[in-house]
Amino acid sequence: MEIALRIAGIGAGDEVITTPISWVATANVILEVGATPVFADIDPVTRNIDLDKLEAAITPKTRAIIPVYLAGRPLDMDRLYAIASKYSLRVIEDAAQAIGSTWQGKPIGSFGDFVSFSFQANKNITTSEGGCLVLNNEAEATLAEKYRLQGVSRSGWDGIDVDVLGGKYNMTDIAAAIGLGQFAQLDKITAHRRKLAQHYFKVLGSDFETNTGAQLPPKECGGVASEMPGTHRPTPCGCFESTNWHLFQIVLPERITRPEFMERMKAFNIGVGFHYAPIHLFTLYRDMGFREGMFPIAERVGKQIVSLPMFYAMTEADVERTCAAMREVLI
Ligand SMILES: Cc1ncc(COP(=O)(O)O)c(C=O)c1O
Repeated sequence: MEIALRIAGIGAGDEVITTPISWVATANVILEVGATPVFADIDPVTRNIDLDKLEAAITPKTRAIIPVYLAGRPLDMDRLYAIASKYSLRVIEDAAQAIGSTWQGKPIGSFGDFVSFSFQANKNITTSEGGCLVLNNEAEATLAEKYRLQGVSRSGWDGIDVDVLGGKYNMTDIAAAIGLGQFAQLDKITAHRRKLAQHYFKVLGSDFETNTGAQLPPKECGGVASEMPGTHRPTPCGCFESTNWHLFQIVLPERITRPEFMERMKAFNIGVGFHYAPIHLFTLYRDMGFREGMFPIAERVGKQIVSLPMFYAMTEADVERTCAAMREVLI
């Protein structure tokens, strides 16, 4: 993402809009290139950036947007790119969690402008650490290759040349070999996660939200735009894409704190994670003037969101055990 911002020529004086609910890397890269991060609040259903609020946050200084597909759930890609084109903005898709997700049948990664995937250890497929940047422009891809390793290109007086200042962002061959093996299993892995997610919905039942006050993720509806002709709005269930279920996240009711929920689930031998605390409330960002109350939905969700167990080795029986424990803790 940092390389993408550099290629796009973004730096001091430029604003880049992103979501407050992501891994802090999403905003840190904006600071790394000397630009100014601007946050727009999230949609409470999808937990992704709210595109209306994103559009409202655009100023004459805005040069790029970094949408994040939290838990692997894509945004409305038509609308996202319509906004980008209306205001001439570059898009750096933070698809760190979205490998294998699709939108209206097309894989995330095929929409351009820049798409960044992570293959860090807990992602759906992994190279242990690392990731990749997908571009749709030859000249920019060549530049990305240079930035990746000290600006080196295979040309020039001694078989190589250096004409831009790059860094050391290259993936090792060993990691790449692991990645190729993992790629071959992506469809199988994604299908299993979808099966587990569906099982969560089935076992929790349609009255789980009413009984507990917790909020489930939008159910995968497999819907397409034709379900809501003429609009770019999500279908009634809140999604019209196919997520890879990188995470299965619920938002807890206010009556239980996240640490208490995690502790009580641990007593059932069930590990629960959380992704993420709102970025703007970290000290680094508070020191830049961000405060509580600026993005109320992100703050509420960021305080109460938890990630239930979801991994390839998990079985439907594990889902059932998790749901039984949750019922004990929440009902
Ligand atoms: C949404 C999001 N963005 C960025 C990153 C950073 O990816 P990496 O750890 O591969 O640098 C992550 C990884 O956790 C992530 O989940």
